[in-house]
Amino acid sequence: MMSFDFSGRVAVVTGAGGGLGRCHALALAERGCAVVINDLGGDVHGEGASVSAAQKVVQEIMDKGGKAMAHGGNVTSLEDMQDMVEKTVTEFGRLDILVNNAGILRDKTFAKMDMADFKMVVDVHLIGSVNATKAALPVMQEQDYGRIIVTTSSSGMYGNFGQSNYGAAKAALSGFMNSMKLETAKFGIKVNALLPVAATRMTESIIPEEMLSLLKPELVSPAVVFMAAEGAPTGEIISAGAGTFSRSVVVETDSVYLGDTPTAEQILENWDKISDMSTAQPLGSGSDHTQKVLGAVFAAKQK
Ligand code: NAI
Repeated sequence: MMSFDFSGRVAVVTGAGGGLGRCHALALAERGCAVVINDLGGDVHGEGASVSAAQKVVQEIMDKGGKAMAHGGNVTSLEDMQDMVEKTVTEFGRLDILVNNAGILRDKTFAKMDMADFKMVVDVHLIGSVNATKAALPVMQEQDYGRIIVTTSSSGMYGNFGQSNYGAAKAALSGFMNSMKLETAKFGIKVNALLPVAATRMTESIIPEEMLSLLKPELVSPAVVFMAAEGAPTGEIISAGAGTFSRSVVVETDSVYLGDTPTAEQILENWDKISDMSTAQPLGSGSDHTQKVLGAVFAAKQK
């Protein structure tokens, strides 16, 4: 039976001063995990900074008898993330779980968007998660144990109007997870992605008011507890919101061989077969994809 007792475990949750990160931190702390509450304390666009939001969450956890520590580092700085990991290990002795949650929005259609706003969003979501993971990985490898969670989004998986920067960064995180799960498996490290939907300051202006009350952020956090546990899967994208949970998967249809001199006309003629979703399957890695392609060629040539 999979255990959800986190006594003796240590987690870092980035951007945990409010919204979803705070709920993830509280959920882990409730189950005995010591939690480092990282938050820069800026606004939803990434302006300003204050460690007070993180300290408030630390107080909430300590008031309930839990163990917690605040860290005001900026995820966009590798030095800050290294400092955060060093302080975590000094205070709690290890680091088992990293929840990459910190994020900002700078929405605009791509035509009107300043490149600075595109880069800033990529910097916080993608590079921020990369920095924290880079800092945490040596500790996890040394322990032969680790759980890394990245936070993707429906915007990254499916697209959203006005969110080309955010969608690109969020999709990149599932790409990061896909390679990381392969590279870290031998160290007992599992890497998964959360795809949340919740009412927070990030979504209060996007989601209609009558739906916000259903989308309590604490309803998402059980998925984080699941992915942070000893028996967690690896390489999964778990979607969570309003008390619902689902598995999101990238799939590919059967490879259809069109001969040695394929043409666009042949693709059109065979489109029903090429796009037949009844043949679609997930793939474990890029090399599985190459094998699938070549397997279809060999099978067709042997006929
Ligand atoms: P939020 O704005 O309430 O929380 C984000 C937290 O990250 C804030 O406390 C903020 O201070 C912190 N932060 C921002 N930049 C930082 C930096 N450079 N360094 C350290 N901390 C920083 O937003 P919410 O909704 O709780 O979002 C949490 C995560 O979930 C984000 O990655 C977001 O993109 C993702 N997400 C949220 C969805 C939702 O429906 N709320 C949907 C899909 C994804």
